Amino acid sequence: MSKCPIGVFDSGVGGLSVLRALRAELPYEHFVYVADSGHAPYGERDDAYLIERARAIAQWFKDRHHIKALVVACNTATAAAIHVLREAHTDIPIIGIEPALKPAVLQSTTKVIGVMATRSTLASEKFKRLMTSLEDQARFLLQPCPDLVPAIEAFDSVRIQTACAHYASALGRFGLTTGHIDTLVLGCTHYPFAEDALRRTTGNAVKYLDGGEPVARQTRRLLEAAQLLYTSREPHVGTTTLFSSGEPASLAIAAQRWLGLHSEALMLAA
Ligand code: DGL
Repeated sequence: MSKCPIGVFDSGVGGLSVLRALRAELPYEHFVYVADSGHAPYGERDDAYLIERARAIAQWFKDRHHIKALVVACNTATAAAIHVLREAHTDIPIIGIEPALKPAVLQSTTKVIGVMATRSTLASEKFKRLMTSLEDQARFLLQPCPDLVPAIEAFDSVRIQTACAHYASALGRFGLTTGHIDTLVLGCTHYPFAEDALRRTTGNAVKYLDGGEPVARQTRRLLEAAQLLYTSREPHVGTTTLFSSGEPASLAIAAQRWLGLHSEALMLAA
């Protein structure tokens, strides 16, 4: 079982930001990544749709790849569907991702925190509960960014820049001065790939937080606890296999560009 792969999925190429952290944290593990680009973006979908996609992908991972753990590398799918996945698959660890509000509260000095995420994530009960539990410690300014994921999926740098300038300015003023936003939570796994464009509006003093590394550490902890870490004594490096329910060439390009991964992406029957 320890040699089985870890399944990782997102609506598209965004989850590669989590896969990057997972590969760094767990270099001996095998990963199978699914970009559900044929059904992206998830951010404007309702819960029923997201649950159905999450169910179908989890089942495919189990039937075809006998995964030993599942990482939901998508804030939107985590908020809508992780409880359903955990109920249905009690035999494997399932790790989700949520906007990094708790670390943001600890790191912020001005205690004014910007949160960018999909509309669906920001409207979810899970997110509302998280924010309510921290509201006495900081002020959160929320910004849905519906145009950003399609722009990132299309590698359209002009549209990415326009969307970032628009959404960041809409959040308010950035900087270390009292009352300004000094910490920006990237609550969608696509957004780290737009950080350079965002910084043109926010400046460099602002701290950016995404959930990739914490998710990778949590995945290691859960695998260790279940004695599922890859244990072969033979020297090897873990493999990564990519699948897309949309355009596989785009996923391969993204993986090469952002992870330096020279791998073909395969078509996933939707
Ligand atoms: N990357 C996803 C997230 O973390 C969803 C993006 C989308 O498809 O709208 O929320």
